[in-house]
Amino acid sequence: FTVDWDASASEKGGWDSFMDKEIHEDPEAVRNTLLGRVDLDGRLNLDELHIDENAFKSIDKIIVVACGTASYAGIVAKYAIEHWVRIPVEVELASEFRYRDPILTPRTLVVAISQSGETMDTLMALRHAREQGSKVLAICNTQGSSIPRESDAVLYTHAGPEIAVASTKAFLAQITAAYLLGLYLAQTKGTMYRDEIGNTLEALSQMPEKIQWVLDTQPQTIHDTARRMVDAHSFLFLGRHVGYPIALEGALKLKEIAYTFTEGFAAGELKHGPIALVDEGEPVVVIVPPARGRNILHAKVMSAIEEVQARGAFTIAVAEEGDEDVAQKADVVFWRPECPTLMSPLVDVVPLQLFAMDMAMLKHYDVDKPRNLAKSVTVE
Ligand code: G6P
Repeated sequence: FTVDWDASASEKGGWDSFMDKEIHEDPEAVRNTLLGRVDLDGRLNLDELHIDENAFKSIDKIIVVACGTASYAGIVAKYAIEHWVRIPVEVELASEFRYRDPILTPRTLVVAISQSGETMDTLMALRHAREQGSKVLAICNTQGSSIPRESDAVLYTHAGPEIAVASTKAFLAQITAAYLLGLYLAQTKGTMYRDEIGNTLEALSQMPEKIQWVLDTQPQTIHDTARRMVDAHSFLFLGRHVGYPIALEGALKLKEIAYTFTEGFAAGELKHGPIALVDEGEPVVVIVPPARGRNILHAKVMSAIEEVQARGAFTIAVAEEGDEDVAQKADVVFWRPECPTLMSPLVDVVPLQLFAMDMAMLKHYDVDKPRNLAKSVTVE
């Protein structure tokens, strides 16, 4: 009596690939990163950072250093932290940071974001920051790895091990951890009312079920769209505000695993160049902000959809349930549940992860091990 047993298949827990498994762990990644960090009375408790409150109060600038997907989590965090804490947040690719003589002071907090904790560019950037006298806080998913070991403080993301080369669940956990850091700074510096912080934490804690809704309801539309688009040579991704880094991340995922030429742009830049690329049938993915509250950005993004459609584009929107305008205008819509704008990246990225995976699978590529890429790049 023999049993066929494949160690790798068993680790995938019944999923076709690690990427598929890890996308389905997106809700858990957010939930686990929040766990234990909010007191019963709704106050954030980040004693684990071991940075004293006065040092936190004196921070007057944040520079995020990171690579790839982690750098896009940094851009999302910039929009939120500047709004909440009213201090400038710069986001810099780690590979550029050290070589441009950045302005660092003891009041600058450098935040190094890395899933693996071993990315050499990020490690070199944080060493440079510390040599210049700045404090470095790591947001990292791997306990005891080099980046947290060499940082002054660490806020671990609890996404669990990520095996697929293309990062998915770690991205959501990075945004969650960076939001916790932002809210903690707001609490320490007194830039937000206690209620506001409590309400924001409450909204954050509701995100896992909203992400689950996307995973439960959208795959069929996403799969049908991937089948329709599988032969497309290129894709454009457009977004504004926090939708902009999501456009960059959606473009990166498709490039990494489906080997399709993609570019992500800020939707406002469309008229300054990218529109020249739009031709009959060109697929354009557009991240649409909520229409609620007469959000001016909604109208702007809708006009971007009209502009590209007028040139023959095939438009795929990621939009909030009930958005009639989008339902009428876009060729395909991946729906997300209603949530505050700053929370929307956590749901908007999920259909784009699934879409990239479907496209790669339809082309029979190995979604877990894309060609030429490594999970952790330990050379500069
Ligand atoms: C590699 C991976 C990407 C990842 C980047 C940064 O390029 O293929 O998925 O986003 O490194 O990795 P890190 O471990 O520092 O987050």
